[in-house]
Amino acid sequence: MRQLVSRILKPGCRILEVGSWLGTGSTRAIIEMLLPVPDALLYCVDTWQGSPNVGRHLQIVQNYDVLATFRHNIELSGGKDRVKQRVMTSQEAAKTVADNSFDLVFIDGDHSYLQTSKDIERWHPKVRNGGILCGHDCECRPAGELRNRIILAKEDDCIDGQGTVFAAIHPGGVVAVDEAFEGAAHLWGEHSLLRADGSKGYSTIWDIVK
Ligand SMILES: C[S@@+](CC[C@H](N)C(=O)[O-])C[C@H]1O[C@@H](n2cnc3c(N)ncnc32)[C@H](O)[C@@H]1O
Repeated sequence: MRQLVSRILKPGCRILEVGSWLGTGSTRAIIEMLLPVPDALLYCVDTWQGSPNVGRHLQIVQNYDVLATFRHNIELSGGKDRVKQRVMTSQEAAKTVADNSFDLVFIDGDHSYLQTSKDIERWHPKVRNGGILCGHDCECRPAGELRNRIILAKEDDCIDGQGTVFAAIHPGGVVAVDEAFEGAAHLWGEHSLLRADGSKGYSTIWDIVK
């Protein structure tokens, strides 16, 4: 995430994230990078109602005020003046945004195949030419021995990552990204990254330059 953001980071840059949840994952990483850059803004689009195919989300929203927790975490990150909240569905938010208006859009909302495909379709035009469209949870390509298992489960949030370096695979993202860009998207899971502590790790982020 940080490597992608560093490529577009400049005064006045605009980033949009679909799916922010508690604001402690991708959101915090982006805020940390934006803070030293004048007038750089992050738009966070989320219903804060959880993803319909994630049981854990639906339980959490019954018992906690997730949006209030997000707001609290944004304050703690020092990002209050740099984050624009859009409490609405991805579909509603896309209608309020002009084409070619973001330097980077990060898709991390509902991970089902249907919704990930729609998110790619609706947010790709919103990225300026030369900007980056990227997303989370695309571990591999729908190929080889994994293909059937991935295709069958494409509306599920995730399945066992057996056969990959990951504990889980998100089949919806895997199929949607592959179809949308006909295999041309870059998958960070296809090569290892060096963690801050020097150990090797893998990211499940995908990206494509528009
Ligand atoms: C995987 S979580 C996001 C995680 C976050 N990016 C992070 O790094 O911690 C998915 C989020 O997408 C949101 N979401 C699911 N469906 C959505 C939709 N149709 N429109 C907007 N947000 C949605 C959920 O409320 C949830 O907060």
